[in-house]
Amino acid sequence: MAIRIINIIFVGSFANEELMNTTEKIPGHIAIIMDGNGRWARERGLERCEGHKQGVSALRNIIRSAAQYKGLRYMTLYVFSTENWGRPKEEVDMLMELLCRSIVNELHELKQEHIRVLVIGDRNGMSQTVTEHIDLIEKETASGNALTMLLCINYSSRAELTHAMQTLAARVAAGEINPDEIDADTITSALYTSGIPDPDLIIRTGGEQRLSNFLLWQGAYSELYFTQTYWPDFGPADLDAAIKEYAHRNRRFGKVCDDKE
Ligand code: FPP
Repeated sequence: MAIRIINIIFVGSFANEELMNTTEKIPGHIAIIMDGNGRWARERGLERCEGHKQGVSALRNIIRSAAQYKGLRYMTLYVFSTENWGRPKEEVDMLMELLCRSIVNELHELKQEHIRVLVIGDRNGMSQTVTEHIDLIEKETASGNALTMLLCINYSSRAELTHAMQTLAARVAAGEINPDEIDADTITSALYTSGIPDPDLIIRTGGEQRLSNFLLWQGAYSELYFTQTYWPDFGPADLDAAIKEYAHRNRRFGKVCDDKE
């Protein structure tokens, strides 16, 4: 309860109440590339793992803040990419341990806040401990209907698309569908994100301006927002700034501008 009261004060003092109470111009789905943990730590003379630990705190605040926006229904977080296995073993082990510890620590409050957690990515590459924790959080939060949080773990967009193509090819080989029946909707429904609307807004922290193999299909028409702020420093006021910026964007989806807007 104490955490919740502090959180309400924290969120309320920085974020825009008006935006929180409307569903208009609010992105229904925000995806975030949480970058800059390592640099945040280095600039403070700390080990990289301290940056990741602080990154978990930032994530915690952002999820609680996101849950206050009525129209915001999905948050997708790039936690660990298929390429991240190439990092030093100690860092990979530490990230996996941090993930399991965070699941145990946050489970109760996520359930209380009715936040559903889904994990997307290739589970074959994960240890049994990690998959057990993932199964646990998905099962325990399955009835959450306030906000859905998708954690991308051992995820990359190319791996996801490869998997989708293999699934569809197998269905063609089995005679279930004809090749000419494959369209954008069929491909969308073969992705890990099947059933989840495309992200309206993709945020990347940490100063780089690229997508790094993240939601390449789903992000075809996403608005992009880049900030220099390192992920551990990204707070509710920064989320609010990104949402405000989104509210001023004119999304045309390849069509012409609506003069009435
Ligand atoms: C990128 O920063 C961050 C990651 C690869 C890990 C993201 C993980 C977290 C935010 C915390 C873990 C979350 C959970 C749920 C356990 P970087 O290390 O690439 O930073 P750098 O570019 O400054 O080196």
